[in-house]
Amino acid sequence: MKFVTIIGARPQFVKAAAVSRIIRRNHQEILVHTGQHYDNNMSEIFFDELHIPKPDYNLGVGSGSHAKQTADMMIGIEEILLKEKPDYILVYGDTNSTLAGAIAATKIHIPIVHVEAGLRSFNMNMPEEQNRILTDRISKFLFCPTNTAVENLKAEGITQGVYDVGDVMCDAVLYYEKLINKNGKDYYFNRLEKLIEHNNPESWYLATIHRAENTDNIEKIYEILSAFEEFDEPVIFPVHPRTKEMVLQVMNENSFKNTIITQPVGYIDMLFYAKNAIKIVTDSGGLQKEAYILNTPCVTVRDQTEWVETLNGNHNILCKPNKKDIIDKVFNTKTDMENKNNYYGNGDASEKIINFLR
Ligand code: UD1
Repeated sequence: MKFVTIIGARPQFVKAAAVSRIIRRNHQEILVHTGQHYDNNMSEIFFDELHIPKPDYNLGVGSGSHAKQTADMMIGIEEILLKEKPDYILVYGDTNSTLAGAIAATKIHIPIVHVEAGLRSFNMNMPEEQNRILTDRISKFLFCPTNTAVENLKAEGITQGVYDVGDVMCDAVLYYEKLINKNGKDYYFNRLEKLIEHNNPESWYLATIHRAENTDNIEKIYEILSAFEEFDEPVIFPVHPRTKEMVLQVMNENSFKNTIITQPVGYIDMLFYAKNAIKIVTDSGGLQKEAYILNTPCVTVRDQTEWVETLNGNHNILCKPNKKDIIDKVFNTKTDMENKNNYYGNGDASEKIINFLR
């Protein structure tokens, strides 16, 4: 089988690390990086650390409006598909790179394999929700990470080509988790590129906030950072480039001291901070689930989550982007650590996907 695989944004590099390893055992893969994420610590570091093969094509699309970014990707991907003539195009998740790959392929009748199909937040204002619904509608093979995702597709009348295989991100967590503790804490703290001077803590909370709905408004960033000021231990906060300016402005204007602002960190370092954190506060989809798999309680600053299974036993709890609610949820939530299921599989989702296609 010959695949053209489309990746472009941080979480897709992690997913590709798991799936490409399996594809390349017996099949051919042409890897296309759209260039949606282009900073070294948003992109290259993942390829180096996770041993992802070098992309065969890099479209270098970069930032832009949704339409421009998606359109530029579509033009580049169509050319590659016409030249490479793959059996399948493989797209991951819900980013603009996912949608661009799917639309380019469907028009020229190349079957679409969608990995991480069927997730829904039921919030059509999110670009991710638009991207995943449109991609699922035109995909031939829909590999779902959970049974909830299968049911979501069924409710939309999509039942053909739908397979519940488990989550490829879980494959990655279980594979790389083995590597993280052998270096010791100092190793990871020495690698932290802090944007504001701060001593290393003995224990910490971990935060990431990057969704448009939380970061397009400086008031929300203020609320979130002022909540962190009240935490009993420092908060490590690797900032996405889109939020960096506003975060630094709020930190400086208010002389906030309890948050350790850093550059984005690589995947394996992130697993270390996540596994050893007291709690995680995030609006990332991937990190909520990584928290669940790594046994770290999580507070998600969003109105909905696609990963509804994490809410059972309060392993994850939703909260508003305001100071009072964040403090309330972080300090007054009891997590039932005894009660956990492996909703996301056993680390063999990538194998199952390639076996099904074969
Ligand atoms: C994208 C995905 C989101 C995913 C996230 C993971 C879409 C619509 N959203 O959001 O689902 O959770 O990636 O990180 O595809 N920027 C840089 N350097 C980079 C990349 C981005 O400075 O390497 C800045 C640019 O100012 C850009 C902004 O971040 O305009 C947003 O980047 P974009 O790729 O459009 O979306 P994300 O917010 O990263």
